Amino acid sequence: MKKTILSGSTVTGDLTLGNYIGAIHNWKQLQEKYDCLYFLADLHALTVFQDPKVLRDRTYSFFAQYLALGLDPQKNIIFVQSQVPEHTELSWVLTCLTPMGYLNRMTQFKEKSEKHVKNINAGLYTYPILMAADILLYQADLVPVGEDQRQHLELCRDIVGFFENRYGEGILKMPEAYIGKSGARIMSLQDPEKKMSKSDENEKNFVSIIDDAKKIEKKIKGAATDSGTEIKYDPETKPGLSNLMTIYSVLSGKTTEELEKEYEGKMYGHLKVDLADVVVQTLRPVREKYDDLMKNKDHLDQLMKSGSERARARSRVTLENVYKAVGLVR
Ligand code: TYM
Repeated sequence: MKKTILSGSTVTGDLTLGNYIGAIHNWKQLQEKYDCLYFLADLHALTVFQDPKVLRDRTYSFFAQYLALGLDPQKNIIFVQSQVPEHTELSWVLTCLTPMGYLNRMTQFKEKSEKHVKNINAGLYTYPILMAADILLYQADLVPVGEDQRQHLELCRDIVGFFENRYGEGILKMPEAYIGKSGARIMSLQDPEKKMSKSDENEKNFVSIIDDAKKIEKKIKGAATDSGTEIKYDPETKPGLSNLMTIYSVLSGKTTEELEKEYEGKMYGHLKVDLADVVVQTLRPVREKYDDLMKNKDHLDQLMKSGSERARARSRVTLENVYKAVGLVR
């Protein structure tokens, strides 16, 4: 029996190098060995204001970005969250098991409610419970995510514990986070103290995976680096440079030590020029495939539909077991 992997991304902004390196790069490798489900978290996107048209267009765009990045709809189940109503159904049961005290601790809720002061809605608060439902519906063993999602994963494990205490074991599987060794936290290009985020208002802070070559070069060359000249990987004293070296290392397959040797005696500028080239070469075929996929929305619709049907068939089994266990008449 292959282990089950599940992960997703919220449909906001465009996928960035941070999403690629922290998550999708790993998803691609996992699809070869595991039973994988990857989805677009469009319901999660509703926790902040969304223009309906933009959200609709973006859902197609994200789906095409997943495929263009190398996720294969034959090897994996790729689907859209809102097309599988079991997610919200399980989420309600789990909401009734989750103490508010646990939600109060979520750092992402705190950060997001500071950022969206005019819209601190209940969905923003219960967001991690929906995320737990996403994972638990499919009996996922491993959840490949970046470092920023670790706390949500821990809450998901707590929720399994609450469920088991009340209703017994064997109904929901205890998942584990799968966090890559390097690149689990790619930082903003202009402000390496904060993470690279696709919903950042300042475009210079991130490289989107569908940026063109010119934009990529401009953003990487303009990235903030630190004082000094030596090319040395040291996130404490050289956070800007180290961030660029992490990106370089993951995309080129070279270790940061190898990069230090290669750039001995050279300037930051040299590394930036070469890194921009590596990023452009990595993303060029992605962009081409993306443009191609976006020309045929009907094809994307068909793929979404078949992914969602396959996901529903799997998720329904867990949901029925949960409903029976909690005493709902079926
Ligand atoms: P999201 O959309 O913010 O990010 C998608 C994935 O990319 C990772 N990531 C990063 N990794 C490294 N460096 C960065 N700067 C960076 N920024 C983002 C994230 O850790 C994530 O793995 N709540 C989730 C979506 C979600 C989900 C789930 C994930 C909903 N349900 C169930 C896993 C399982 C989110 O908003 O990710």
